[in-house]
Amino acid sequence: MKEASRWKRAGGWVDLRGRREGGLAFLLMRLTGIGLVIYLFIHLYVLRLLAQGPEAWDAFIAMAKSPLFLALDGLLILGILYHALNGVRVTLLGLGIGVPHQARLFWGVMTLTLLMTAVAVYAIFAITG
Ligand code: HEM
Repeated sequence: MKEASRWKRAGGWVDLRGRREGGLAFLLMRLTGIGLVIYLFIHLYVLRLLAQGPEAWDAFIAMAKSPLFLALDGLLILGILYHALNGVRVTLLGLGIGVPHQARLFWGVMTLTLLMTAVAVYAIFAITG
């Protein structure tokens, strides 16, 4: 396969042109799934600080309370909520439930994801900020 056409094919799954709700839902599911796997490894890496004693852990917690870190927590919650809620949608569709309404279910997932993320981000900043 020529180099240019290989890149064109690889870029196909992030190309939003001409996609409808189902394609968009799949793309976001893949991005959040990969993001969660990356987060899992970062999380395990950070947990090793626990073995280095209370000072190392306390220093990390102080950094984790910075506004930038809290905003990243918001991004994480956004990804978790979308992945989990759309996971329920995909499971229902796989069982043959609600198939004719898949596009409306997608917008329902998006609405719930954004509302729940907004509440979570508000709570995070209200408690920690
Ligand atoms: C509430 C928890 C979760 C639910 C309900 C859920 C559900 C699902 C479902 C139904 C799929 C298949 C999507 C499809 O076939 O179109 C999927 C894919 C995937 N999930 Fe999850 N998941 C959850 C948590 C996680 C977590 C914690 C991770 C990572 C650590 C993860 C990583 C992935 C990845 C990498 C894929 C493959 C995406 C792809 O092939 O495009 N999931 N998930």
